[in-house]
Amino acid sequence: MSARRRGRLAPVSAPNPQRTIWPGDDGRTVVVIDQTRLPHVFETLDLTDLEDAAAAIETMVVRGAPLIGVTAAYGMALGLAADPSDDGVAAASARLLRTRPTAVNLAWAVRRVEEAVTALAPAARAAAAYALAGEIADEDAAMCSAIGDHGLPLVEAAWEAKGREGVVNVLTHCNAGWLATVEWGTATAPIYKAFDAGIPLHVWVDETRPRNQGASLTAWELGEKGVPHSVIVDNAGGHLMQHGMVDLCIVGSDRTTAAGDVGNKIGTYLKALAARDNGVPFYAALPSSTIDWTLRDGVAGIPIEERDPAEVTAISGMDAGGRVVEVRLTPEASPARNYAFDVTPARLVTGIITERGVAEASEEGLASLYPATT
Ligand code: MRU
Repeated sequence: MSARRRGRLAPVSAPNPQRTIWPGDDGRTVVVIDQTRLPHVFETLDLTDLEDAAAAIETMVVRGAPLIGVTAAYGMALGLAADPSDDGVAAASARLLRTRPTAVNLAWAVRRVEEAVTALAPAARAAAAYALAGEIADEDAAMCSAIGDHGLPLVEAAWEAKGREGVVNVLTHCNAGWLATVEWGTATAPIYKAFDAGIPLHVWVDETRPRNQGASLTAWELGEKGVPHSVIVDNAGGHLMQHGMVDLCIVGSDRTTAAGDVGNKIGTYLKALAARDNGVPFYAALPSSTIDWTLRDGVAGIPIEERDPAEVTAISGMDAGGRVVEVRLTPEASPARNYAFDVTPARLVTGIITERGVAEASEEGLASLYPATT
C-alpha cells in the first residue's frame, strides 16, 4: 500500500486518549493507527486513496467490525475524490466489498454512502461522502458509549452477587475494544465504564490465535487505561470457568443474525459452550450496525473468512534485541487451515448488549429493541 507512515517507535504509548480513525489536516485524507505494529510500535498511517483504504482493511492495519465499516465509508470518499461518476461509485463500492467478508458493518457503511451520494451531482459526491463517513464514526462512538452504559449494570450485578467481595472477573475474546471501533469498544465499553465507576475488576484476555488480537491489542489497551488484566492461552477459559474464576464473559461480534446467532472471532463458540456448562453468563456486545437483519440461521448463513494459512504456521513477536520478527511454528511440509470466525448459536448467548439496551438473543428480543426491522 502507498499510505504514508508517521512513525513513533517504542516505548509504545498512545500519545493522547484518541480515536482509531480521524480526518487528515488537509480535509481530504484519513489517518488510522497501524494495528499490525501494536503492541510494539505505535504508528499512524495516512490513507490517501481508495486502494490505501481497501488494503488497510485487507491487511488488518484496521480491523474490528465497526472500524472496518468506518474505514470503508472513508474509502468511498477517497474513491469518489478520484472518480465521482456513477461508474466510480460502483467501482469503489465493489473494491471495498471484496476486502473482508464476515463483518456486516462493511456492507452496511458502503451501502449507506452509496445511497447518499447517488442522489447528488458528481461534483458534490466526494465531499458528501467524507462528511458522512465522519458522521458514521461519531455515531459509532456514541453507540459504543451507550453499549457501555447498558452493560455496566451487568458488571454491577456480578459485583453484588459476590457480596461486593474480591473482584469481578470478566473474560473476553479477541479485541472488541476501542481499537476495533472508533472509541470505547463494544465488549470493553462496559468494562471501562465499570472500571471508571470504581468496581474492582480483572479481565481474562484470551490471546486469540492466530493473529493474537487479545494478546497484542486488548492487553495493550487495557494496560494503557490501567485496567487489571491477565493474558491467557485460548484453551484456558474452560478451566477457569470450572473453578469459579470467571463471573461473566463479554465478547464482540462481526455479524449477528436477526435471531441472535453471534458470528465472532474463531474460538468464541467454544467459550460459549464452556460458559453454558459452568453457568457463567455469556454476553455479546454490539452496535445495531453489526446486525444482519436478512439472516436468521448464522451457522448456515454467516460467511466465514478463511485467511492465509501462513498466519497459523508462523508467529511474530519482538526478539531480545527489540526487533519485531516472524518465526515458523510448524513443520515446513504441514498444511494448515485458517478459519477466522465462528458462530455461537443464540441458545448459548445470555443476552445481547446493544446501544438501545440488553436484548434476549432471539428474534423477539432483538425486534423488541428494533421494531422497525420487522
Ligand atoms: O479479524 P478481526 O480482528 O477483525 O476480528 C475482530 C473480532 O472478531 C471482534 O470481536 C469483532 O470485530 C467485534 S469488534 C467490536
